[in-house]
Amino acid sequence: MENRNFKRLLANEHSIKEASEMIRSGGLVAFPTETVYGLGANGYDSTAVSKIFEVKKRPTFNPLILHIAEMSFLEQIVDTQFKNLQILCEKFWPGPLTIVLPKKDTVPAIVSSGLDTVAVRMPDNKIALQLIKESGVPIAAPSANMFGRLSPTNADHVEEQLKDKIDLLIDGGNCEVGVESTIIQINKRSWSLLRPGGLETEELIEVLGKPKKGESFDNPIAPGMLPFHYSPKIPLKFFYEMDRETLRELRIGVLLFKDRKLIFEPEMKRVLSEKGDFVEAASNLFRYLHEIEESGVDLIVAEKVPERGLGVAIMDRLNKASRNI
Ligand code: TXA
Ligand code: MG
Repeated sequence: MENRNFKRLLANEHSIKEASEMIRSGGLVAFPTETVYGLGANGYDSTAVSKIFEVKKRPTFNPLILHIAEMSFLEQIVDTQFKNLQILCEKFWPGPLTIVLPKKDTVPAIVSSGLDTVAVRMPDNKIALQLIKESGVPIAAPSANMFGRLSPTNADHVEEQLKDKIDLLIDGGNCEVGVESTIIQINKRSWSLLRPGGLETEELIEVLGKPKKGESFDNPIAPGMLPFHYSPKIPLKFFYEMDRETLRELRIGVLLFKDRKLIFEPEMKRVLSEKGDFVEAASNLFRYLHEIEESGVDLIVAEKVPERGLGVAIMDRLNKASRNI
C-alpha cells in the first residue's frame, strides 16, 4: 500500500488542525509524544485502526494504546471503578504511564485485539494533546515504526520507515523521554508491570505498593514483552559476549553508557550520557541506535546499564535488541 500524498509538516496550529481533520476522516497521522512518535488513527473507527496494522505489518493479536487528552474521555472507554486509579492519573498524567483497564463497548475490538481490556494513556506533549483534543476522539497509536524495528524518536526516523505509507507526519522535534511508556495492568486488588518504560517502577510502588509477581516478564500478556522487539537491522551484543579478536576484526559501532577507554578502535562510538545520567541516556537511546545502524558497521556492541530507575527500561530494550536473530 503506497500513499503518494504523504506530507510532512512542522508542528503548528495549522498543521495540527489539518492532522485532526485527517484523523476524523479515517487517515493515518504520525505525531510526536514525549516518549516516541506514535502512528495514530481514530480509536473509534475500526477501518482506520486496521490500516495501522497493515502499514506496520503488525500482527493483529498485538493490541494498541488509546491516547486521550482529557479525563472525561477515560470514562467513555474504560471501567474506572478502581481504588487508586484517580490518584494514579492525577499524579502521573499527562506522562509516560499506560494503564490497562477493562474496556467498554465503545472501543472497537480491533483496538484491543479482542481482549476485554484496553491500554490508555495521556501523553505529556503539547502537540499530541492538542491533536487529540481537536480530533475529539481517543487516538489509537502504536510507536510509528515497522513491527519489531527500532522505535522513532524524531521525525526523520518515522519518515525513513513509513514514508509513502501514511498520510501525514507532524514534525515536533526530538522526543524528550526517548523510551516508550511504562505499562501496568490494574486489577481489583493488585497490579502488575507489563512493560518497564519512561516512568520508573519505584514511583509506582510508592503509590500502589509492590506489583504482583510472576505475571509480568515471564508470561507475555503485552507483546511488547516478547523477548525480541525493538531490533536494529544489525546484530547487537554486549561487551562481555565478545572476545578481543572479534572486536578488532569486525567493523563495530559501540554504545556506551558513560564514556570510557576501549581496548580497540571502533568505527563509531556513541555515549548515552557522559555523566551517567539515566534520563539523558534514555532520551538518546533510540537515536544513537538508529545512527549506529545507519553507519554501515557489522555489529553493535553495547555496555550494560545499571538496572535502577530508567536503567531498567533501557536494559529491557537492549536485551530485546540483543536477542534478535
Ligand atoms: O510510549 C508509548 O507507549 C508509545 C507512544 C506512541 O504512546 N506507544 C507504544 O505503543 O509503545 P506500542 O504499540 O508500540 O506498544 C504498546 C504495548 C504493546 O506491547 C501491546 O501489546 C501492549 O502495549 N498492550 C496494549 N493493550 C494491551 C492490553 N489490553 N493488555 C496488555 N497489553 C497491552
Ligand atoms: Mg512499539
